[in-house]
Amino acid sequence: MSSRKAAPAKAAANRRLGVLISGRGSNLQAITDAIAEQRLDAEIAVVISNRRDAPGLERARRAGIETVALRHTDYGSREAFDAAMVGELRQRDVGLVCLAGFMRLLSGSFVAAFPNAILNIHPSLLPAFVGLDAQRQAWEHGVKVSGATVHIVTPELDDGPIVRQAVVPVLPTDSADSLAARILVEEHRIYPEAIRVILDGGWRIDGRRFVEQP
Ligand code: GAR
Repeated sequence: MSSRKAAPAKAAANRRLGVLISGRGSNLQAITDAIAEQRLDAEIAVVISNRRDAPGLERARRAGIETVALRHTDYGSREAFDAAMVGELRQRDVGLVCLAGFMRLLSGSFVAAFPNAILNIHPSLLPAFVGLDAQRQAWEHGVKVSGATVHIVTPELDDGPIVRQAVVPVLPTDSADSLAARILVEEHRIYPEAIRVILDGGWRIDGRRFVEQP
C-alpha cells in the first residue's frame, strides 16, 4: 500500500528557490552556475544559513543573492527556529527549498510547510551511510562503490523518495578525503539536474518511489 499521496503531475510551477546552507556552499555555487549557464530555469530567492560565518553566504552575496543568517542558538527550540525559517521563505514566495549542506534536522512542521517541495543532497548512496561524515563512513566500511543522492525530504533523517543518484567507485588508493572530493564532483552535477526534474513536473510519488512519467 502506498503511504504517500501521489504528487500532481505538473508540480512546482513556482521556480523560486530557497537554499539552506551551513558551510562552504559549493553545492549552492553549482546551482548558481547552472542557473547562470541556463541549464536550470530557476531563481534563487534567498540563501539562509544557520551559521553567520558560513563561507557560502559570501558566495551568495557575490552572486547578488539575498542572504539571511538565523542562528539556531538564538531560538528556544527547534520548532521556533524552523518557524522563523518558514517565515523567511514564505515572505519571498519560495516554491522549492534546497538543502545544500544544511547540517540541522528539520522538524515535522517545517517539512509539512513545503510538502514534497524540499530537496536534500547527501554524499552517499542512500539508504547506506546516513548522518554526518557519510564519505568517511563509507570509506571505513570498505564498500567498493559509494556516491551521492538527491532526495525529497521527509521528517526522517536522510530518508525520502530518491530523485537522482550517482555512483562513485572507491579506489584502493583512496583516503576518505579523496573519495569525498570525487563524490563532490558528482553532487555538483546531479543537484541542479534533480532540481530541474522537480520543477519541470511530470513525476509522482508511489510509496517511497519517485517515478518520472515516460
Ligand atoms: C556536501 O558534501 C553535502 O552532500 C553534505 O555536506 C556537504 C556540503 O558541502 N551534506 C550532508 O552531509 C547532509 N546530510 P557544500 O557546503 O560545499 O555544498
